[in-house]
Amino acid sequence: MTTAPVRLPEHLIHPFAPAGRANPHPAYRWLRANDPVHYDAASRLWLVTAHGDCATVLRDPRFSAAQGQRERARDDALPPSMLTTDPPDHHRLRAPGALLLGPAAVRSLSAGLLEDVDALLDRLPVGGRVDAVAEIGRPLATAVYARLFGLPAGESKRFEALARAASVNLDPMVPPARAALGRSAAGALTHYLDGHASSVVGRTDVPLAALAADDRLSRAEMLGILSLAVIGGWQPLAEFIGNALHLLLPDRAAVSSLAGADEDLARLAVDELLRLEAPIPFTARVTTDRVELGGGVLPAGARVLAVLTAANRDPSVFTDPDELRLDRSPNPHLGFGGGPHFCLAAPLVRQTAALLLPRLVRRFPALRGPDGVPDWDQCLVPRRLRALPIELGGSA
Ligand code: HEM
Repeated sequence: MTTAPVRLPEHLIHPFAPAGRANPHPAYRWLRANDPVHYDAASRLWLVTAHGDCATVLRDPRFSAAQGQRERARDDALPPSMLTTDPPDHHRLRAPGALLLGPAAVRSLSAGLLEDVDALLDRLPVGGRVDAVAEIGRPLATAVYARLFGLPAGESKRFEALARAASVNLDPMVPPARAALGRSAAGALTHYLDGHASSVVGRTDVPLAALAADDRLSRAEMLGILSLAVIGGWQPLAEFIGNALHLLLPDRAAVSSLAGADEDLARLAVDELLRLEAPIPFTARVTTDRVELGGGVLPAGARVLAVLTAANRDPSVFTDPDELRLDRSPNPHLGFGGGPHFCLAAPLVRQTAALLLPRLVRRFPALRGPDGVPDWDQCLVPRRLRALPIELGGSA
């Protein structure tokens, strides 16, 4: 790495430029090969694109998440969350989070989630056309939170509206006026979650009730975990389904392999789909010291983006990195991050998507995606399709 400015060649569009957002992969490919720790003068950010360097950014304590995520301030005066703290404070906040999202909590939800997936598939119009983003991804994500939080059936719409409005600030480059609306929506979401948490006291079938009863956290810290879980998770989970179907449906061999998949293959497939189009394509850190990385030196106070989506296609780690191989194993992708902040809900996401995707393609064997150019949204985080119209065809 050199501090002399390196520029993208003219035929490539900057991944943050409006025209580059639809397909950032060519620019990231060039950066990874030619300037893997790249100072981007326009955004004043260092873009780290190689897998090994990204893993270092996520794991090395000299890259502070607390400072990197500070700009996501909210209007609700909640204390720092686990994503905005560094070890050792981070551990104190993360450990109780397992009551909500750990493997035991996820296991306790699996029968209910299976019912929700079947009910969702039953509602799809046989022979019809649906937008997979609005009619599969979002209701699935909302059903997952309804189970986690014990939301009454009639509350889904309200919860979804709050979750969507509060998710605006996932994107660090959202314009200031929208960011302000997002912060105030996060306050409304917290207020809602506070009231709801009181209503599930004593319930043994709701992971949120176990978290709310845990005395290791103050009420405000508990609410911080809940609001992080919604703002950090609802939209990525919802959008992942559209991203996954966009990758999967054109590949008929992959579709039939998924239709016949057992649980192990279904989980490998979920990881591979996350690798190729990670809903959280990058995450921010700030260096607390001078750090050598990728053959050069980052100054203290450098604002760094670990570009997970670029790391996920690094040819030094993944054979045929741009290809979908459902049974790829091992698959050390960084779609869930890595190190101390590794996604706490990874088991839940894997289980949910591994329940839905094989059942969907089994139920609708002639399922087809749209022809033509995918309709990627302008927002950078989460990476999402504005819509994915799919033809369901007949039901099996
Ligand atoms: C496909 C869906 C999802 C993806 C791709 C995803 C990805 C990620 C990534 C990349 C991080 C690390 C961020 C960083 O290091 O800065 C993270 C952290 C986190 N995720 Fe997820 N996530 C998903 C869904 C969810 C869901 C559904 C929830 C909650 C129900 C959730 C809860 C969390 C929490 C609490 C953290 C912070 C962990 C910590 O700081 O220790 N995520 N996620």
